[in-house]
Amino acid sequence: MLVLGIESSCDETGAAVVDHDGRVLSDVVHSQVKLHAPYGGVIPELASRDHLKNAGPVVREAMSSAGLSWERIDGIAVTNRPGLVGALLVGVQLAKGLAWARGLPLVGVDHLVGHLLAVFLRRGEDAALPPEFPFVALLASGGHTAIYRVDGPSAAHVKELGATRDDAAGEAFDKVAKVLGLGYPGGPAIDRLARGGDPKAVPFTLPMGFSKSFELSFSGIKTQVAARVREHGVPATEAEMAGTCASFQAAVTSVLAKKLVAAAVQERVSTVVIGGGVAANRELRSRVTELAGQHGIRAVLPELASCTDNAAIIAYAGLVKLQNGERDSWNLIATSATSLPRSTRKGRGAR
Ligand code: KG4
Ligand code: ZN
Repeated sequence: MLVLGIESSCDETGAAVVDHDGRVLSDVVHSQVKLHAPYGGVIPELASRDHLKNAGPVVREAMSSAGLSWERIDGIAVTNRPGLVGALLVGVQLAKGLAWARGLPLVGVDHLVGHLLAVFLRRGEDAALPPEFPFVALLASGGHTAIYRVDGPSAAHVKELGATRDDAAGEAFDKVAKVLGLGYPGGPAIDRLARGGDPKAVPFTLPMGFSKSFELSFSGIKTQVAARVREHGVPATEAEMAGTCASFQAAVTSVLAKKLVAAAVQERVSTVVIGGGVAANRELRSRVTELAGQHGIRAVLPELASCTDNAAIIAYAGLVKLQNGERDSWNLIATSATSLPRSTRKGRGAR
């Protein structure tokens, strides 16, 4: 079975072809990073217009680099939630047009389910063996951060164990990078600078770090970095900048790894997985592998290209739905809300 996936929920226009084993036959991503960089964040109206310009050519390139004719495609999957609605509409409408013209089944995919199933994709020959259900997953992207118990490959099989009460982990990387003058997006820049830094240089405290709950919080550490910059200015030397990045990154990744593994121990599952843009973070990857290993738990990490936004994760999540007999009709809508359950209340205060 071969499925064409289309992704346009935020600032990446993607199209990819994936087979039933999760093998990625093509994966084309057109990034809008340069378009939004001068504003320090994504401007929704600019994102929609850029998707409109690039979605057609990106699909054409995904088909030609897979070396496939349309007759070989068995279905079309498209991100229809959550995301910027104007941006989602571009992908959804393109997918409907293609499905109608080719007489193919259409399925809408929750972007977050795509991230959760990213570990099933196989790009290189040495891709890790996919995990078995059930597992506990950390989803950490620019807009969402949560720990889930996952009993099967659809939203109905996902239970939230804890989520952030405020900012997402990727959002914290982006905001801290902005305060430090490192540009947008912040995750890759902080990851790179932290490599040479002393993680003990700045004693940041991480809210919820010692709490037994699986709920998370990242706005406090962002405020700590901002307060330091207000008091001392932006780190002046290379070593100070690297130390600030390393200390921030160590605080965030240690609490993510600790809570993920603790959740797996509580749920008595033998596998943990990670997904979302922050899953590309080098330190998070090594901490999760090491800590899981200490508890006899297998950590399955997606390949780097499967972490940040791409259409292969959408094609695979859609393929699973199609195999299940699911179909969407021509009135498939786009919405900013995820279909995943949410139990963590946003905001401060006692629980
Ligand atoms: O999953 P994604 O591509 O888009 C969303 O669905 O949000 O995640 C983007 C987020 C951004 O906040 C970006 O700064 C972060 O992932 N990110 C990273 C790294 N690469 C991307 N954060 C930490 N370390 C990285 N290497
Ligand atoms: Zn994403």
